[in-house]
Amino acid sequence: MAQPKITSVTLATLPTPLEAGGKLPSGANLWIKRDDLTGLGVGGNKARKLEFLCGEALNNDATCLVTVGAAQSNHCRMTAAAGARLNLPTHLVLSGVKPKQLEGNQLLAEMFGAQLHHTGLDANDWTNLEAARAELTEKLIRDGQRPHSIPIGGSTGVGALGYASAFDEIISQCETQRFVADAILFTTSSGGTHAGLVAGLIRARANDPQKVLPKIIGIGVAKGVALNTYRVAELANESLTLLGETVRATQDDVLIDANYMGSDYAVPTQAAADATIWAAHRGAWVLDPVYSAKGFSGLLGRDANGEFNADSNVIFIHTGGLPSLFVMH
Ligand SMILES: Cc1ncc(COP(=O)(O)O)c(C=O)c1O
Repeated sequence: MAQPKITSVTLATLPTPLEAGGKLPSGANLWIKRDDLTGLGVGGNKARKLEFLCGEALNNDATCLVTVGAAQSNHCRMTAAAGARLNLPTHLVLSGVKPKQLEGNQLLAEMFGAQLHHTGLDANDWTNLEAARAELTEKLIRDGQRPHSIPIGGSTGVGALGYASAFDEIISQCETQRFVADAILFTTSSGGTHAGLVAGLIRARANDPQKVLPKIIGIGVAKGVALNTYRVAELANESLTLLGETVRATQDDVLIDANYMGSDYAVPTQAAADATIWAAHRGAWVLDPVYSAKGFSGLLGRDANGEFNADSNVIFIHTGGLPSLFVMH
Protein backbone atom coordinates (compact mmCIF):
# COMPACT_ATOMS: atom_id res chain seq x y z
CA MET A 1 0.00 0.00 0.00
CA ALA A 2 1.32 3.44 -0.87
CA GLN A 3 2.48 5.52 2.07
CA PRO A 4 0.00 8.36 2.74
CA LYS A 5 1.49 11.76 2.03
CA ILE A 6 2.19 13.87 5.11
CA THR A 7 2.60 17.57 4.46
CA SER A 8 3.24 20.13 7.14
CA VAL A 9 3.65 23.86 7.06
CA THR A 10 5.80 25.87 9.46
CA LEU A 11 3.63 27.85 11.86
CA ALA A 12 5.25 27.29 15.26
CA THR A 13 8.58 28.36 16.73
CA LEU A 14 10.19 25.02 17.57
CA PRO A 15 11.70 23.52 19.59
CA THR A 16 10.04 25.14 22.57
CA PRO A 17 12.22 25.38 25.71
CA LEU A 18 12.32 22.60 28.29
CA GLU A 19 12.88 24.60 31.47
CA ALA A 20 14.17 23.32 34.83
CA GLY A 21 11.41 24.01 37.36
CA GLY A 22 13.11 23.26 40.69
CA LYS A 23 11.79 20.69 43.13
CA LEU A 24 8.25 19.46 43.69
CA PRO A 25 7.12 19.02 47.32
CA SER A 26 8.17 15.32 47.12
CA GLY A 27 11.69 16.36 46.12
CA ALA A 28 11.20 15.28 42.48
CA ASN A 29 12.69 17.45 39.75
CA LEU A 30 10.08 19.41 37.82
CA TRP A 31 10.59 20.36 34.17
CA ILE A 32 8.30 22.64 32.19
CA LYS A 33 7.95 22.11 28.44
CA ARG A 34 7.00 25.57 27.24
CA ASP A 35 4.45 24.83 24.56
CA ASP A 36 2.74 28.03 25.66
CA LEU A 37 5.60 29.61 23.68
CA THR A 38 4.91 28.03 20.27
CA GLY A 39 4.50 31.55 18.95
CA LEU A 40 1.49 31.26 16.65
CA GLY A 41 -1.10 33.91 17.60
CA VAL A 42 -0.09 34.08 21.30
CA GLY A 43 0.99 30.41 21.39
CA GLY A 44 -0.23 27.10 22.80
CA ASN A 45 -0.34 23.41 21.96
CA LYS A 46 -2.58 23.73 18.90
CA ALA A 47 0.22 25.27 16.80
CA ARG A 48 1.84 21.84 16.52
CA LYS A 49 -1.39 20.22 15.32
CA LEU A 50 -2.13 23.08 12.94
CA GLU A 51 1.22 22.63 11.18
CA PHE A 52 -0.06 19.26 9.96
CA LEU A 53 -3.74 20.17 9.62
CA CYS A 54 -2.90 23.20 7.49
CA GLY A 55 -0.37 21.15 5.52
CA GLU A 56 -3.30 18.87 4.70
CA ALA A 57 -5.43 21.92 3.79
CA LEU A 58 -2.79 23.26 1.38
CA ASN A 59 -2.36 19.79 -0.09
CA ASN A 60 -6.11 19.69 -0.79
CA ASP A 61 -6.04 23.20 -2.34
CA ALA A 62 -8.43 24.44 0.33
CA THR A 63 -9.82 27.94 -0.13
CA CYS A 64 -10.80 28.41 3.52
CA LEU A 65 -10.59 26.85 6.99
CA VAL A 66 -13.52 25.88 9.21
CA THR A 67 -13.33 24.71 12.79
CA VAL A 68 -15.38 24.54 15.96
CA GLY A 69 -15.01 24.93 19.71
CA ALA A 70 -16.12 26.45 22.98
CA ALA A 71 -16.68 30.21 23.09
CA GLN A 72 -13.17 30.71 24.51
CA SER A 73 -11.53 27.96 22.43
CA ASN A 74 -7.76 28.35 22.14
CA HIS A 75 -7.86 25.98 19.19
CA CYS A 76 -10.25 28.30 17.32
CA ARG A 77 -8.10 31.36 18.08
CA MET A 78 -4.98 29.57 16.84
CA THR A 79 -6.74 28.30 13.70
CA ALA A 80 -7.67 31.93 13.01
CA ALA A 81 -4.00 32.84 13.45
CA ALA A 82 -2.96 30.06 11.05
CA GLY A 83 -5.56 31.30 8.54
CA ALA A 84 -4.06 34.78 8.76
CA ARG A 85 -0.54 33.46 8.24
CA LEU A 86 -1.56 31.32 5.26
CA ASN A 87 -4.02 33.82 3.79
CA LEU A 88 -6.92 31.39 4.16
CA PRO A 89 -10.26 32.90 5.25
CA THR A 90 -11.26 31.19 8.50
CA HIS A 91 -14.70 30.37 9.91
CA LEU A 92 -15.14 29.55 13.60
CA VAL A 93 -18.27 27.80 14.87
CA LEU A 94 -18.52 28.71 18.56
CA SER A 95 -20.66 27.83 21.55
CA GLY A 96 -22.64 30.62 23.21
CA VAL A 97 -24.14 33.82 21.89
CA LYS A 98 -22.27 36.81 20.51
CA PRO A 99 -21.11 38.87 23.51
CA LYS A 100 -21.66 42.64 23.53
CA GLN A 101 -17.90 43.05 23.59
CA LEU A 102 -15.47 40.39 22.37
CA GLU A 103 -12.89 39.24 24.92
CA GLY A 104 -9.93 36.89 25.19
CA ASN A 105 -9.70 34.29 22.43
CA GLN A 106 -12.70 35.68 20.51
CA LEU A 107 -11.20 39.16 20.48
CA LEU A 108 -7.93 37.78 19.09
CA ALA A 109 -9.67 35.49 16.57
CA GLU A 110 -11.58 38.41 15.14
CA MET A 111 -8.41 40.48 15.11
CA PHE A 112 -6.78 37.71 13.03
CA GLY A 113 -9.61 38.17 10.54
CA ALA A 114 -11.74 35.09 11.27
CA GLN A 115 -15.49 35.06 10.86
CA LEU A 116 -17.18 34.06 14.12
CA HIS A 117 -20.40 31.99 13.96
CA HIS A 118 -22.09 31.95 17.39
CA THR A 119 -24.44 28.99 17.72
CA GLY A 120 -26.01 29.63 21.12
CA LEU A 121 -25.09 26.03 22.01
CA ASP A 122 -23.61 24.85 25.30
CA ALA A 123 -19.81 24.39 25.33
CA ASN A 124 -20.29 20.76 26.36
CA ASP A 125 -22.68 19.97 23.50
CA TRP A 126 -19.99 18.59 21.19
CA THR A 127 -22.53 16.64 19.08
CA ASN A 128 -24.52 19.69 18.03
CA LEU A 129 -21.42 21.89 17.74
CA GLU A 130 -19.99 19.33 15.30
CA ALA A 131 -23.33 19.23 13.46
CA ALA A 132 -23.17 23.04 13.11
CA ARG A 133 -19.62 22.74 11.70
CA ALA A 134 -20.84 20.15 9.15
CA GLU A 135 -23.76 22.40 8.17
CA LEU A 136 -21.52 25.44 7.65
CA THR A 137 -18.99 23.34 5.71
CA GLU A 138 -21.75 22.11 3.37
CA LYS A 139 -23.00 25.67 2.86
CA LEU A 140 -19.49 26.85 1.94
CA ILE A 141 -19.19 23.98 -0.56
CA ARG A 142 -22.55 24.96 -2.09
CA ASP A 143 -21.14 28.51 -2.37
CA GLY A 144 -18.25 27.16 -4.47
CA GLN A 145 -15.59 27.07 -1.73
CA ARG A 146 -13.21 24.19 -0.92
CA PRO A 147 -13.25 24.34 2.89
CA HIS A 148 -10.79 22.40 5.00
CA SER A 149 -13.02 21.51 7.93
CA ILE A 150 -11.30 20.62 11.21
CA PRO A 151 -13.04 18.81 14.10
CA ILE A 152 -13.10 20.06 17.68
CA GLY A 153 -9.62 20.64 19.11
CA GLY A 154 -7.97 19.69 15.80
CA SER A 155 -7.93 16.13 17.11
CA THR A 156 -7.52 13.93 14.06
CA GLY A 157 -4.80 11.42 13.28
CA VAL A 158 -3.17 14.13 11.14
CA GLY A 159 -3.36 16.80 13.87
CA ALA A 160 -1.96 14.41 16.46
CA LEU A 161 1.21 14.02 14.34
CA GLY A 162 2.30 17.33 15.85
CA TYR A 163 2.58 15.69 19.25
CA ALA A 164 4.24 12.52 17.93
CA SER A 165 7.06 14.87 16.85
CA ALA A 166 6.82 16.75 20.16
CA PHE A 167 7.48 13.46 21.97
CA ASP A 168 10.74 13.03 20.03
CA GLU A 169 11.63 16.67 20.67
CA ILE A 170 11.16 16.19 24.42
CA ILE A 171 13.24 12.99 24.55
CA SER A 172 16.04 14.64 22.61
CA GLN A 173 15.98 17.66 25.00
CA CYS A 174 16.12 15.31 28.02
CA GLU A 175 19.21 13.68 26.48
CA THR A 176 20.84 17.06 25.89
CA GLN A 177 20.04 18.12 29.45
CA ARG A 178 21.29 14.74 30.76
CA PHE A 179 18.30 13.33 32.55
CA VAL A 180 15.81 10.54 31.99
CA ALA A 181 12.16 11.56 32.29
CA ASP A 182 9.89 9.39 34.42
CA ALA A 183 6.61 10.97 33.42
CA ILE A 184 5.11 13.56 31.08
CA LEU A 185 1.89 15.18 32.32
CA PHE A 186 -0.37 17.60 30.46
CA THR A 187 -3.98 18.69 30.14
CA THR A 188 -6.16 16.58 27.87
CA SER A 189 -9.50 17.61 26.39
CA SER A 190 -10.27 16.53 22.82
CA GLY A 191 -7.47 13.96 23.02
CA GLY A 192 -5.22 14.87 20.07
CA THR A 193 -2.29 16.05 22.16
CA HIS A 194 -2.51 12.86 24.19
CA ALA A 195 -2.86 10.64 21.11
CA GLY A 196 0.20 12.18 19.47
CA LEU A 197 2.33 11.68 22.57
CA VAL A 198 1.18 8.05 22.82
CA ALA A 199 1.98 7.52 19.13
CA GLY A 200 5.44 9.01 19.72
CA LEU A 201 5.99 6.75 22.71
CA ILE A 202 4.86 3.60 20.86
CA ARG A 203 7.11 4.41 17.93
CA ALA A 204 10.12 5.12 20.19
CA ARG A 205 9.50 1.89 22.11
CA ALA A 206 9.37 -0.09 18.86
CA ASN A 207 12.60 1.51 17.62
CA ASP A 208 14.49 0.77 20.85
CA PRO A 209 12.78 -1.67 23.23
CA GLN A 210 15.60 -1.25 25.84
CA LYS A 211 15.23 2.51 26.16
CA VAL A 212 13.65 3.86 29.36
CA LEU A 213 10.74 6.01 28.25
CA PRO A 214 8.43 8.26 30.30
CA LYS A 215 4.93 7.40 31.38
CA ILE A 216 2.35 9.56 29.55
CA ILE A 217 -0.35 10.92 31.89
CA GLY A 218 -3.21 13.09 30.65
CA ILE A 219 -5.19 15.13 33.17
CA GLY A 220 -8.75 15.21 31.80
CA VAL A 221 -10.65 18.51 31.89
CA ALA A 222 -13.67 17.75 29.68
CA LYS A 223 -16.08 14.88 29.51
CA GLY A 224 -16.00 14.60 25.68
CA VAL A 225 -13.17 12.58 24.21
CA ALA A 226 -10.96 13.30 27.18
CA LEU A 227 -12.38 10.58 29.33
CA ASN A 228 -12.41 8.05 26.51
CA THR A 229 -9.20 6.01 26.43
CA TYR A 230 -10.47 3.97 23.48
CA ARG A 231 -10.83 7.06 21.28
CA VAL A 232 -7.35 8.33 22.22
CA ALA A 233 -5.80 4.95 21.33
CA GLU A 234 -7.72 4.99 18.04
CA LEU A 235 -6.39 8.47 17.21
CA ALA A 236 -2.85 7.39 18.15
CA ASN A 237 -3.20 4.45 15.77
CA GLU A 238 -4.37 6.72 12.96
CA SER A 239 -1.18 8.74 13.48
CA LEU A 240 0.97 5.59 13.58
CA THR A 241 -0.56 4.48 10.27
CA LEU A 242 0.21 7.87 8.72
CA LEU A 243 3.79 7.51 9.97
CA GLY A 244 4.05 4.14 8.24
CA GLU A 245 4.42 2.29 11.55
CA THR A 246 2.93 -1.15 12.04
CA VAL A 247 3.01 -1.10 15.86
CA ARG A 248 -0.24 -0.19 17.59
CA ALA A 249 -1.40 1.50 20.80
CA THR A 250 -3.97 -0.16 23.03
CA GLN A 251 -6.20 1.32 25.69
CA ASP A 252 -3.61 0.21 28.25
CA ASP A 253 -1.22 2.77 26.77
CA VAL A 254 -3.66 5.59 27.55
CA LEU A 255 -3.89 6.93 31.08
CA ILE A 256 -6.38 9.71 31.78
CA ASP A 257 -6.78 11.05 35.29
CA ALA A 258 -10.20 12.68 35.60
CA ASN A 259 -9.86 13.56 39.28
CA TYR A 260 -8.90 17.17 38.64
CA MET A 261 -11.70 18.26 36.28
CA GLY A 262 -14.01 19.31 39.11
CA SER A 263 -17.71 19.14 38.33
CA ASP A 264 -17.31 19.92 34.61
CA TYR A 265 -15.41 21.59 31.78
CA ALA A 266 -14.48 25.20 32.61
CA VAL A 267 -15.98 25.02 36.11
CA PRO A 268 -13.27 26.41 38.42
CA THR A 269 -11.65 24.22 41.09
CA GLN A 270 -9.79 25.26 44.24
CA ALA A 271 -6.92 22.91 43.33
CA ALA A 272 -6.49 24.70 39.98
CA ALA A 273 -6.54 28.11 41.69
CA ASP A 274 -3.87 26.90 44.14
CA ALA A 275 -1.80 25.38 41.30
CA THR A 276 -1.96 28.72 39.43
CA ILE A 277 -0.44 30.55 42.41
CA TRP A 278 2.19 27.81 42.93
CA ALA A 279 3.28 28.02 39.30
CA ALA A 280 3.21 31.81 39.17
CA HIS A 281 5.33 32.13 42.32
CA ARG A 282 7.75 29.37 41.35
CA GLY A 283 8.55 30.17 37.76
CA ALA A 284 6.25 32.98 36.62
CA TRP A 285 4.45 30.35 34.55
CA VAL A 286 1.01 31.68 33.68
CA LEU A 287 -1.65 28.98 33.79
CA ASP A 288 -5.26 29.35 32.65
CA PRO A 289 -8.24 28.20 34.74
CA VAL A 290 -9.88 26.03 32.02
CA TYR A 291 -6.94 23.89 30.88
CA SER A 292 -3.37 24.28 32.08
CA ALA A 293 -4.14 25.06 35.75
CA LYS A 294 -6.31 21.96 36.09
CA GLY A 295 -3.58 19.92 34.38
CA PHE A 296 -0.92 21.27 36.71
CA SER A 297 -3.16 20.69 39.73
CA GLY A 298 -3.19 17.04 38.62
CA LEU A 299 0.61 16.96 38.63
CA LEU A 300 0.78 18.53 42.11
CA GLY A 301 -2.00 16.22 43.36
CA ARG A 302 -0.29 13.08 42.06
CA ASP A 303 2.98 14.27 43.60
CA ALA A 304 1.21 14.78 46.96
CA ASN A 305 -0.22 11.24 46.65
CA GLY A 306 3.30 9.79 46.61
CA GLU A 307 3.71 8.99 42.90
CA PHE A 308 7.10 10.70 42.60
CA ASN A 309 10.21 10.89 44.81
CA ALA A 310 13.54 12.72 44.99
CA ASP A 311 14.95 10.59 42.14
CA SER A 312 12.08 11.37 39.76
CA ASN A 313 12.10 13.73 36.79
CA VAL A 314 8.61 14.94 35.97
CA ILE A 315 7.76 16.99 32.88
CA PHE A 316 4.69 19.20 32.63
CA ILE A 317 3.75 20.30 29.12
CA HIS A 318 2.44 23.83 29.47
CA THR A 319 -0.14 23.84 26.68
CA GLY A 320 -0.95 27.57 26.89
CA GLY A 321 -4.39 29.13 27.29
CA LEU A 322 -3.26 32.62 28.26
CA PRO A 323 -6.05 34.66 26.53
CA SER A 324 -8.90 33.24 28.60
CA LEU A 325 -7.26 34.68 31.72
CA PHE A 326 -8.40 38.08 30.52
CA VAL A 327 -12.06 37.16 30.21
CA MET A 328 -14.45 38.64 32.77
CA HIS A 329 -16.76 36.07 34.30
C1 LIG B 1 -4.60 25.43 26.67
C2 LIG B 1 -5.02 24.05 26.28
N1 LIG B 1 -4.44 23.00 26.89
C3 LIG B 1 -4.77 21.74 26.60
C4 LIG B 1 -5.73 21.44 25.65
C5 LIG B 1 -6.07 20.02 25.38
O1 LIG B 1 -5.61 19.58 24.13
P1 LIG B 1 -6.39 18.46 23.35
O2 LIG B 1 -7.66 19.08 22.86
O3 LIG B 1 -5.47 18.07 22.26
O4 LIG B 1 -6.68 17.35 24.29
C6 LIG B 1 -6.39 22.50 24.99
C7 LIG B 1 -7.45 22.22 24.02
O5 LIG B 1 -8.25 23.00 23.66
C8 LIG B 1 -6.01 23.83 25.31
O6 LIG B 1 -6.59 24.87 24.69
